[in-house]
Amino acid sequence: MKFDGIHEKTLVLIKPDAVQRGLVGEIIKRFETKGLKVVGLKMMRLGDAVLREHYAHIASKPFYPSVEKFMMSSPVVALCLEGLEVVDAVRLVMGITKSRAAVAGSIRGDLAMGYGCNVIHGSDTVENAQAEVARFFKPDEILDYDKGEYLHVYSDDERV
Ligand code: TYD
Ligand code: MG
Repeated sequence: MKFDGIHEKTLVLIKPDAVQRGLVGEIIKRFETKGLKVVGLKMMRLGDAVLREHYAHIASKPFYPSVEKFMMSSPVVALCLEGLEVVDAVRLVMGITKSRAAVAGSIRGDLAMGYGCNVIHGSDTVENAQAEVARFFKPDEILDYDKGEYLHVYSDDERV
């Protein structure tokens, strides 16, 4: 799976609060209109084992049990997005963790108020993105295809 240049990939999870609140389409729309390419998309239920792995960096925190319970409370939508410097671009479009303090215009800033209920997850580094895409998608669930609009999303020198 290619992860370099225009083929950099990241993992987004549309969380249970967004599924419950009918925000799945709105969130996907924001990534599409940003110019990012959807290369993987599926709805799934998360179990405690995958969540402990995915959230290893917070698993010992006092708030972890409530994060786990929340993340298992409804299905989530997993997205693999592709683009130039896509990991950083998605973090920017997401906004900071505490939604009520996230900048207006960001997904969390516009659509949420909570800390745990912050509507999406996005990988924070290229290294973590590679591990997270592999955690949630099988290789044959990531689709390689040409997107016509790329002619108008990137200049020639960026589109290599
Ligand atoms: P983290 O990876 O730090 O945030 P982000 O999702 O912005 O990368 O934390 C993972 C999730 O844990 C976060 O989205 C919401 C939850 N969380 C809390 O509920 N309380 C907290 O104090 C923190 C740091 C995270
Ligand atoms: Mg994180």
